[in-house]
Amino acid sequence: IGGGVGCAIAYPVAKKLFEQGTEVHSIVGFRNKDLVILEDEFKSHSSKYVIVTDDGSYGAKGLVTDALKQLIESGETYDEVIAIGPLIMKFVVAAVRPTGIPCDVSMNPIMIDGTGMCGGCRLTVGGQTKFACVDGPDFDGHKVDYDELMSRNSVYREREAEERKTHICRIQKMGEELIK
Ligand code: FES
Repeated sequence: IGGGVGCAIAYPVAKKLFEQGTEVHSIVGFRNKDLVILEDEFKSHSSKYVIVTDDGSYGAKGLVTDALKQLIESGETYDEVIAIGPLIMKFVVAAVRPTGIPCDVSMNPIMIDGTGMCGGCRLTVGGQTKFACVDGPDFDGHKVDYDELMSRNSVYREREAEERKTHICRIQKMGEELIK
């Protein structure tokens, strides 16, 4: 299961599994049609490919969790679910939990130094403190404390919103000047 840009990480996983003979069902979700990526690549490396968009502008309208639930309800069984995307993928874990299917997640909390020193990417997994950059980024989704992680990840939300009002990306500015 890939959500948004998480599909860029989910695709090589799907490809590798498919190439080694595993039956792979890929469920990918995007906000809208303009943001769809790697469609042909997923299609050619999946036994089943389901695409959903939040606004219904491409594929089925809905969330990846809706698509997953439909597949499970239709009788599909899975040895493992792999979910890669934003923290909101916690709902995939919640959808999988009643089935007892193992669910691996790839975490992308705030990362700063990427060496296990700054603590920015700290999360709790199975009651133990882990650092996504050095201990992960893949963890057993059923053991991740998502509530704690989401609250940590939103610490800077107000400040980021404030910054966005005045901050001008230098690369974007250069690009705009180039196409003038
Ligand atoms: Fe700093 Fe992981 S990014 S500890």
